[in-house]
Amino acid sequence: MTDGSTTVGDSSQPYRPPVSNDATPWWKSAVIYQIYPRSFADGGVGEASVAGEVSVGEASVGDLRGIIDRLEHLSWLGVDAIWLSPVFRSPMADFGYDVSDFCDIDPVFGTLADLDQLVAACHARGLKLILDWVPNHTSIEHPWFQESRRDRTNPKADWYVWRDEPANNWKAAFPKGESVWHWDEPRSQYYLRCFAKEQPDLNWDNPEVEAAMLDTLRFWLDRGIDGFRMDVVHLIGKDLFKDDPADAVARNHAHVTFNDAEVTHERLRAIRRVLDAYPGDRTSVGEVYLLDIAAMSRYHGAGDELHMSFNFAFLWAPPEPRALRDRIALTLRHFDLIDAWPTWVLSNHDVVRHRQRHGGDENVARMMAVMLLTLRGTPFVYQGEELGLLDAVVPPERIVDLDGRDGCRAPIPWDPSPLHGWPADPWLPFPPEGEERNVTTLRDDPKSILHLYRDLLTLRRAEADLQRSELTLLDLGDDVLAYRRGDGWMVVVNLGEQPVTLGETVHVAISSDRGTDGATIDAVSGRTAVVARREV
Ligand code: GLC
Repeated sequence: MTDGSTTVGDSSQPYRPPVSNDATPWWKSAVIYQIYPRSFADGGVGEASVAGEVSVGEASVGDLRGIIDRLEHLSWLGVDAIWLSPVFRSPMADFGYDVSDFCDIDPVFGTLADLDQLVAACHARGLKLILDWVPNHTSIEHPWFQESRRDRTNPKADWYVWRDEPANNWKAAFPKGESVWHWDEPRSQYYLRCFAKEQPDLNWDNPEVEAAMLDTLRFWLDRGIDGFRMDVVHLIGKDLFKDDPADAVARNHAHVTFNDAEVTHERLRAIRRVLDAYPGDRTSVGEVYLLDIAAMSRYHGAGDELHMSFNFAFLWAPPEPRALRDRIALTLRHFDLIDAWPTWVLSNHDVVRHRQRHGGDENVARMMAVMLLTLRGTPFVYQGEELGLLDAVVPPERIVDLDGRDGCRAPIPWDPSPLHGWPADPWLPFPPEGEERNVTTLRDDPKSILHLYRDLLTLRRAEADLQRSELTLLDLGDDVLAYRRGDGWMVVVNLGEQPVTLGETVHVAISSDRGTDGATIDAVSGRTAVVARREV
């Protein structure tokens, strides 16, 4: 609560991990914070880095030491776990999503010893650490691919998907519009790549590939990793004979948004068995990039496939009550049916930040935060959204990503100084407003969006109902998203301009503009969201 009676996330106090018992594994009560390591913090380790043809030279790049040094921010904020985007060895054609060694750390980020230290430092603070596992493809520089492309008879000849002719009409994601079939001179055949040509797809139909990939999971589980975010994991099974819909292909829709093959489910069950063989509720969250919520929910199986998956249909909902309500209702309906646990996410390293997408008004970002952190399910927070960051404006000469995603990957401004706490000019420009919108300045301002996130996280941790109880949607008119959590809590997100009458009296714990914190109210002003306790 924010009435001062509770010390809210006092960093001098020992951290209390989220409530967890046998019936409720930790990841159901957790709030998970995504770190995009190149842009989080630079602890001074690592080599200058090169992205494809674009040299980012002496630029400052974030690393594992930087994360260790800044863990205090996460403890202070009050999140429970970190999802760390890839830190494995990589030529960085797709900034780590093109892996050349699944069992080593790229020198840009540090060493295996640094990773071990990060695990220990997280666990000492009661934080869990989830790594980003990229099972669908490797880098062209991975030794497996180097061997596979040599000829048609080498021991790894069948570890990737090779054909004499394109086998279907599928389109790659990078660059949009290209065929997924890429001609390879050394082998005089096409290889499948659903993403960039530097990211050949592994052939999961080959049991040796599956076994080798499961071993990479064991490698990290043995080192104490708490789970994995699984990159485009619905692609590990494919039906190569099934063309994508011609009209969508004509509009260059990438195959990744259509792939939904039955065989994937048995592979997910095998992955799940690996995780379940370890103690401590090791978890998985899949990037199942299907916008159909019913189809996506099937990737949880009967509690024997993925633990969680990202809710992209929700991410892409406009900030309008009807759209939000519909997608929340649909998610809960499909997930409850099969006893699966939902997730909620607004931003990540692939999409324009939600404050930017929703028109730039911080007020809307504040209302979205109230919603995100009070829904039934596990929320994911993308680094910097707690600062209300906009995307950086990236001039053409500084573009480094192959798919135009640099803006949302801008470095975190830690303080108001010109380099914002970075040792040198970073690899990407800073986001706008860094002089005021940085960790140090916002931490000094109890009314800032940063404190709003922190107070919402503190409240969520203290109130079991906000973590786990049923969510009942309420109808308070077209401009309002409203719901109950258990008997005691009511959340009202009034996206309209006019006040909305509640029909009952409630005590506000947190209001998005902090204007009615602690007040007793029977109406919520326009453009305001509240989390309130009902009189029961
Ligand atoms: C996922 C990642 C994205 C990456 C792609 C290919 O969508 O989130 O960053 O480019 O997979 O690995």
